[in-house]
Amino acid sequence: MTTLTGLIGYPVSHSKSPCIQAYWIAQHQLDADYKLFTTAPARLRQTMLHMRKKNVAGLNITVPHKQAVIEYLDSVDDTAKRIGAVNTVINKNGKFIGSNTDAYGFITNLKEALGDLKPYLKNVVILGAGGATRAAIVALKDAGASNITLTNRSGEKAQGLADEFHVEHLPWSVRNNLLAEATLLINTTSLGMEGQPELSIDVSLLPASAAVHDIVYAPLETELLKSARARGLKIVDGLGMLLYQAQKAFELWHGILPEVTPELRVHVLEPSDEQPE
Ligand code: ATR
Repeated sequence: MTTLTGLIGYPVSHSKSPCIQAYWIAQHQLDADYKLFTTAPARLRQTMLHMRKKNVAGLNITVPHKQAVIEYLDSVDDTAKRIGAVNTVINKNGKFIGSNTDAYGFITNLKEALGDLKPYLKNVVILGAGGATRAAIVALKDAGASNITLTNRSGEKAQGLADEFHVEHLPWSVRNNLLAEATLLINTTSLGMEGQPELSIDVSLLPASAAVHDIVYAPLETELLKSARARGLKIVDGLGMLLYQAQKAFELWHGILPEVTPELRVHVLEPSDEQPE
């Protein structure tokens, strides 16, 4: 019988996940499918019941359900608990287990791009305080980052995260003051994404040895990364985080760790026809 996996979110029609998962399913010649399940918040319960009926092998969960889905699961693993959100569900003998592969995706992408992370983890500055920020903090702490400072437009959210994860925070208005000492600057806001306002930050204030990571991947090279590259700084785009969180989910569902290759990157960046929902 075909192994069913899929993505629950709202909206999901522009998601790259079906393209990534279908690529690996074909590569490994699995009898499996990855479907989109567009689910408005009010219908999450019905969708999760339906998923149990269909005995899906696994699910990805995206905005706005990453926290709300927890009440429809049988248990949640430690990583998902620490991040406070579930992006992957695994069906283990009929039990729905919540996990989170975003931290793995985040740190694997950084390691691939920068190699030894140690020098970059001395003084990390994170812009944003959303869901992606939570996964980034967990991953950075596990990798040994000792000094993390957050700054976010909504100071209250930054403060909440700083208290929860025992990191520093400073007001958004003084974000440029954080740069002179930074070893790694990470944008986890949606600023700079296609259709969103640009991020305003002065990368000329960063030390020459600093690296800049933008988790935005559309466009692949954001204005932030362009200006950092023009300065000769190491840059890390956000596509790898998407690919590696998918890699881990695929492994959890199918028991095979698929490869993230340059060919897959090209494939994912190709414009695709919209998937029917
Ligand atoms: P995700 O789950 O993808 O991280 P999110 O939780 O909606 O998404 O977080 C989006 C982040 O981008 C937040 O840090 C948000 O700042 P606020 O907490 O102040 O909303 C940030 N962001 C979005 N638009 C912004 C803008 N115009 N200026 C500054 N920050 C912005």
